[in-house]
Amino acid sequence: MEYSDIMYEITLIPGDGIGPEVMEAALHILKASDLEFKFQEAQAGNACYQLTGTTLPDETIEMARNSDATLFGAVTTVPGQKSAIITLRRELDLYANLRPVKSYPGVKSIYPDLDLLIVRENSEGLYSGVEQETEEGATALRVVTRKASERISQVAFKEALKRGKTKVTAVHKANVLKKTDGVFKNAFWKVAKEYMDMDDYPNFEVDEVYVDAAAMFLITNPYRFQVLVTTNLFGDILSDEGAGLVGGLGMAPSANIGDVNGLFEPVHGSAPDIAGNGVANPTAMILSASAMLHFLGESEEALKIEQALMNVLKEGVFTTPDLGGKFTTMEMAQAVRENFKKS
Ligand code: NAI
Ligand code: MG
Repeated sequence: MEYSDIMYEITLIPGDGIGPEVMEAALHILKASDLEFKFQEAQAGNACYQLTGTTLPDETIEMARNSDATLFGAVTTVPGQKSAIITLRRELDLYANLRPVKSYPGVKSIYPDLDLLIVRENSEGLYSGVEQETEEGATALRVVTRKASERISQVAFKEALKRGKTKVTAVHKANVLKKTDGVFKNAFWKVAKEYMDMDDYPNFEVDEVYVDAAAMFLITNPYRFQVLVTTNLFGDILSDEGAGLVGGLGMAPSANIGDVNGLFEPVHGSAPDIAGNGVANPTAMILSASAMLHFLGESEEALKIEQALMNVLKEGVFTTPDLGGKFTTMEMAQAVRENFKKS
């Protein structure tokens, strides 16, 4: 049969501020690929709230649940209303947050040739959402289960193998958080043993580092890490630190992955300070779209997009002001698209 191409159904949640701007840029490139997509747009965030009274309509959740993957731009937080992204992560059970920290030639970064991956547990930890007011102030519940700790450790090792990495480091604070991080640490080593005993990978290296030391090593010697796996809050903080190492928020993509669904988003927010000017750096969103293609099994196309972007960054001409260039979001996207089409 001639028409055997897969048609991927993708839910787009552009959101607010620069969300729709970087989304348009990423779509401009995706639409130049040979793959077949059916895009459907869904609402979330502040503009959605003004219109519908909710930051995340049920319809959006169902569209994301039923599509092959979701691209999320960024939303402006509405005080007192539920967080669209945290609710989506929970509703779709997107328990793994993958945040690559990679330096690109042509982009000012503290370390060259850095390429590591932070795997953050996305479903529990200190972000369980169970907070309570007490007489003295308030408390938050830190939930760590064996199940979630084992599955996130599995993700870390699988991603390591997929990406040709030979070392996985667990990051925790089990010397102080003896019970909760005790569970995490034991689950990690249980999974690690499976991989360390594999005949095919005799040189697989596994270690553990306390989170405070990990924060320091990321600055002093990030090359000691290849894949880091950690609980929710630690992962949130360390991955922003990682973004700072390689050129800032405009450069940092992320993937939220579960057993069924995947949602891909830049780490940055809606950037109201630059929104509407058409100057947002589309890199994080384009790399998130590339990560989505990896998730869909279209790694060849994903790598081509990343390479096209790398060429544009390295050339350093058609870039946005935060990268030292004079061009708009869409002009940079157009340069990436042309590079991609040549490949
Ligand atoms: P932000 O990430 O939106 O912006 C922080 C700084 O980085 C700003 O100076 C901004 O101009 C710059 N920046 C961010 N992305 C950029 C890009 N692609 N190109 C060039 N510069 C870029 O964080 P902020 O200002 O703390 O939050 C703004 C709004 O976004 C808030 O309502 C916040 O709650 C929300 N937010 C949403 C997130 C999401 O949708 N996942 C994540 C983080 C914040
Ligand atoms: Mg964060």
